Amino acid sequence: MVASPHGVALAQAPEIGGASVPAHVAIIMDGNGRWAASRGLPRVAGHRAGAQAVRRTIEAAIRGGVGWLTLYAFSSENWRRPVGEVLDLTGLMRHYLRHEVDELTREGVRLHVIGDRTRFEPDLQAELAEAERRTAHNTRLNLIMALSYGARHEIVEAARRAARAARDGTLDPETLDEAAFGQLLSTSGIPDPDLILRTSGEQRLSNFLLWQAAYAELMFLDVLWPDFSGEHFAGALAEFSRRERRYGARPG
Ligand code: FPP
Repeated sequence: MVASPHGVALAQAPEIGGASVPAHVAIIMDGNGRWAASRGLPRVAGHRAGAQAVRRTIEAAIRGGVGWLTLYAFSSENWRRPVGEVLDLTGLMRHYLRHEVDELTREGVRLHVIGDRTRFEPDLQAELAEAERRTAHNTRLNLIMALSYGARHEIVEAARRAARAARDGTLDPETLDEAAFGQLLSTSGIPDPDLILRTSGEQRLSNFLLWQAAYAELMFLDVLWPDFSGEHFAGALAEFSRRERRYGARPG
């Protein structure tokens, strides 16, 4: 294990071959709106039901022995949604933080936030920081919430940091390799996802973890996010264990 800037243990390099349990599962939670529309309900009802699915998924990840779970809860593009829906989503985040942090702690879950949190209201930023602080000692599951997150923005920010360091003479451009660049990303210290799931049948990455997804197994599930259950999660883990991962190497 290697120390990281987040003060968390870095995963070892992935092994070639039978994968068993993924160390890190990342999920694009999609389909809340369609779930609500199919019931004649407002979109916010879909997001509320989606928040219940978040709880079930955290429990399923713990049961499945997954160490890292990333949830794409608000993309940088989501700011373009109608103001009322953005308020509904940020209101749900506040509610979640106020009511779930004790439960997260009981379950041994450590919360990390990635994304441009400065775009949220100051009170929400403070709640996010407080939740990270209060759960920092937990070790059972690392829960990474991607909030106001966009992968291209993240990569550009990392490039900017590298360029500044080179200009200031603290970085020799020749030493900048993939590992060093990875440490400039918001996921520094977090192992790359082994498995990326997207619900709702859409088959896109939508600007999610583009650098980190390089060797991830992708699964697109035909279930709307609010209907996502522990059984779906367990099924995805079972399917993952059947896939052979070679990281570009030849089979042995
Ligand atoms: C996609 O459904 C989902 C989102 C934009 C947000 C995800 C939010 C939640 C799961 C609930 C809140 C989360 C927390 C952590 C409290 P969509 O609205 O794009 O659905 P559609 O594609 O069917 O319209």
